Amino acid sequence: MKDQLMTPQLHEPSEETRARAHADRAAYDRMYAQSVQDPEGFWSEQGQRLDWITPFSKVKDTNFDLGRVSIKWFEDGTLNVAQNCIDRHLATRGDQTAIIWEPDDPKAEAQHVSYRQLHSHVGKFANVLKKMGVEKGDRVVIYMPMIPQAAYAMLACARIGAIHSVVFAGFSPDALSARVTGCDAKLVITADEAPRGGRNTPLKSNADKAFEKCPEGTQMLVVRRSGGAVEMVEGRDHWLHEMEDGISDDCPAEEMGAEDPLFILYTSGSTGQPKGVVHTTGGYLAYAAMTHQYTFDYHDGDVFWCTADVGWVTGHSYIVYGPLANGATTVMFEGVPTWPDASRFWQVCEKHKVNQFYTAPTAIRALMGKGDHWAEGADLSTLKVLGTVGEPINPEAWEWYDRVIGKGRVPIVDTWWQTETGGHMITSLPGAIATKPGSATLPFFGVQPVVLDPQSGAVIEKTEAEGVLAIADSWPGQMRTIWGDHDRFEQTYFSQYKGYYFSGDGCRRDGDGYYWITGRVDDVINVSGHRMGTAEVESALVAHKAVSEAAVVGYPHEIKGQGIYAYVTLMEGVEATEALRNELEAWVRQEIGPIAKPDCIQWAPGLPKTRSGKIMRRILRKIAENDYGSLGDTSTLAEPQVVEELIENRMNRG
Ligand code: WT7
Repeated sequence: MKDQLMTPQLHEPSEETRARAHADRAAYDRMYAQSVQDPEGFWSEQGQRLDWITPFSKVKDTNFDLGRVSIKWFEDGTLNVAQNCIDRHLATRGDQTAIIWEPDDPKAEAQHVSYRQLHSHVGKFANVLKKMGVEKGDRVVIYMPMIPQAAYAMLACARIGAIHSVVFAGFSPDALSARVTGCDAKLVITADEAPRGGRNTPLKSNADKAFEKCPEGTQMLVVRRSGGAVEMVEGRDHWLHEMEDGISDDCPAEEMGAEDPLFILYTSGSTGQPKGVVHTTGGYLAYAAMTHQYTFDYHDGDVFWCTADVGWVTGHSYIVYGPLANGATTVMFEGVPTWPDASRFWQVCEKHKVNQFYTAPTAIRALMGKGDHWAEGADLSTLKVLGTVGEPINPEAWEWYDRVIGKGRVPIVDTWWQTETGGHMITSLPGAIATKPGSATLPFFGVQPVVLDPQSGAVIEKTEAEGVLAIADSWPGQMRTIWGDHDRFEQTYFSQYKGYYFSGDGCRRDGDGYYWITGRVDDVINVSGHRMGTAEVESALVAHKAVSEAAVVGYPHEIKGQGIYAYVTLMEGVEATEALRNELEAWVRQEIGPIAKPDCIQWAPGLPKTRSGKIMRRILRKIAENDYGSLGDTSTLAEPQVVEELIENRMNRG
């Protein structure tokens, strides 16, 4: 982060970018001022970008006061998300490609799904859901590879008013069953296998294992992807293609209230229990559509590619809902950036003439490490905007993205947002906002960031500020509650700093009012752009019979942004062997999923604790960072000598 403090080079938008952009700097300033001075007027106008069955008369009814937190947008309007993402485009762009699907295997053929075909697929899928007894308000879990059927499944739920909860296909059976039970899902939609990077993940058999811990009566719908062998349980499991046989593709779209839930998406918090973030219908869609259009400067006919997985919010808002609401052509990619080799992203950009490309710093760093030549062979001249999301981007990776991929002519948008926010919150806009490598720049329309003093909670009014990042008022894409636990919603986001939505991130605001996100200030770490609660990894570790205690912290990792560093105290008499270390790694993979596998496991005969028994994570973080020279005050420790021991045997000496 140190280099960010030097005056960074300001990258002004080019003439070409400005000429094309929806908003120039003057338009941004004018619209932003209106959006915060007159949110009702601003969002009432923006609400018109959707098709309503019953138009709304109320725009905003929101309250951030602890005990009475309530967020409602467009609350008396009714609409259907699938109708907005598909049907309304049929008259004008029925034959335009809605989804370009690029399979894992580069030699396999890509698919182009037109809006008319999308309508038919989603209609059939929705009728299958109905045939299986899924009704409005029911929950459906989607555990799928990156194939068009994942998008059909989401839109089919939206069409009939069922609430989907997509679970990333990299999650383990245990993580899946917790999410199925957490929302009482009636149905789980999965596939035989998920091909990725030349290897197949056995999704159906993972789901079978998860079902051992799911309530009796939960059904399974299986999409054939690889053709690999699976076991079907009579009466419980059904093949999609069999269910679709002879079914009509005509399924009327259910009339939904603007505040009816559209989806639940589980994300990590600072406790061991993931939270079911709830997004609703009208505000979410309007916000996803508007941010997609402005942040990426999306124009009719452009080809948009977000490389995320639909298992994360980025995939919800910027592969499926935002682009399709705007009648865009959206690319869905099943593979990984480095297989068969590190040219894959750029080959796909060339092949499908991608105009906007959106990925994560971890992918940029990994590709940067493989060398420039992988990108040099591809024609990247169609690119107009490059985006990044998921974690702070180090200026070195930013400059590489700019120089090697954008050839210095393509604006970069660094988009700060969260699962909770539904869409972009702080981001540059291509033709309007000059960028600084490593800064997310300025707030999106309607977003009022504040920097708070972490101790006193006071708003720092001075432009140059450093503290925690909070938001002063609601925006339409904001999450509405935690599924089944509104009290936890209030406690998590509104209790620490009264009257504000607390993001959990630290930030700095420079003299130009630009925001620099410095990372989480809670016990959440960001591993390759994926959010991980340290408490989740700890509970997985202590669930192993050899482990008596575990403390997990993040540390800087060259590719992943943050790596997972675990301090493990073993049970009396258990020997600390290399074999046990491997076993614990495999255990965590199996309990949570491969993304949670610790990068370092250090045996810790003791952990630094206060006299009241609280683990001093600050010290553990410093040791993991190899920065043990500045441990600060250790005088309150119960047994100061354990620190010496931990430093002696530290694993990250980089
Ligand atoms: C956390 C949210 C919604 C995007 C995917 C991750 C970090 C996200 C940036 C950025 C610096 C960023 C924050 C945030 N983050 N984007 N551009 N610059 N940090 O969603 O899993 O909900 O994680 O990711 O720490 O709080 P998520």
